Amino acid sequence: MFKEKLNPDSLPKHISIIMDGNGRWAKQKGFLRALGHEEGTIAVRDVVEGCAEIGVENLTLYAFSTENWNRPKIEVDTLMRLLVSSLKKEIKTLVKNNIKLQAIGNLGNLPKKAQKELTEVIEKTKENERMTLTLALSYGSREELIQVVKQISEKVKNNELMPDAIDESIINQHLYTQNLPDVDLLIRTSGEQRISNFLLWQIAYAELYFTNILWPDFRKENLYEAIYNYQTRERRFGKTSEQIS
Ligand code: IPE
Ligand code: IPE
Ligand code: MG
Repeated sequence: MFKEKLNPDSLPKHISIIMDGNGRWAKQKGFLRALGHEEGTIAVRDVVEGCAEIGVENLTLYAFSTENWNRPKIEVDTLMRLLVSSLKKEIKTLVKNNIKLQAIGNLGNLPKKAQKELTEVIEKTKENERMTLTLALSYGSREELIQVVKQISEKVKNNELMPDAIDESIINQHLYTQNLPDVDLLIRTSGEQRISNFLLWQIAYAELYFTNILWPDFRKENLYEAIYNYQTRERRFGKTSEQIS
């Protein structure tokens, strides 16, 4: 059991997960891809609860990328329907566990029904403070950075900001993730070892953890193993090992 082995004083403050492998999970079992996505929601619930249980303050889940719009329409429709039904169903879990939900991405591109359901759950959980759960929906890091540049340019044009004053904190303030700390631990399931346009700026010094487990099979204990592995690493942030210890 990895849970007992975790050091509560050095938990990652922000974990983000690229939940990948739903399609392959279904294919291996001879099911339709849609079933893999449905099964993936069980893993989401387990991991959200798992994070809250041990005191992780921020969890960000990559649920749908800007590039995922290019999938067959029937799959996109299934994913959007699943988003609505999960939100309806999981509001209980969020309230029970005192979790606040927020969403990042180009949310205006989501179907109206999904936007409405999201707004409702966000509103109902906005006072919760045990953990912030951020869903990345129609999210692309490059698109996020483009809107940062646009907002900052506008301010410079209106003389509200001098180009010289632009620093990391100004960039951070214009990201969708402005209220979140940098990512400490990034997990990707399914064996792929790539970032796929997720939080490029925010993961600058994240520890990366890749596992072959397909997302629908991922559970708390797998999460705790990832955190345990994270706690064995030395985060040097450019310094020498001697400076750290
Ligand atoms: C992740 O699983 C879910 C989304 C990207 C929405 P995939 O659907 O990408 O599963 P694979 O990669 O095809 O197995
Ligand atoms: C990344 O998974 C996006 C999500 C998990 C939502 P993909 O399956 O879309 O990534 P690629 O296309 O294999 O890089
Ligand atoms: Mg995939």
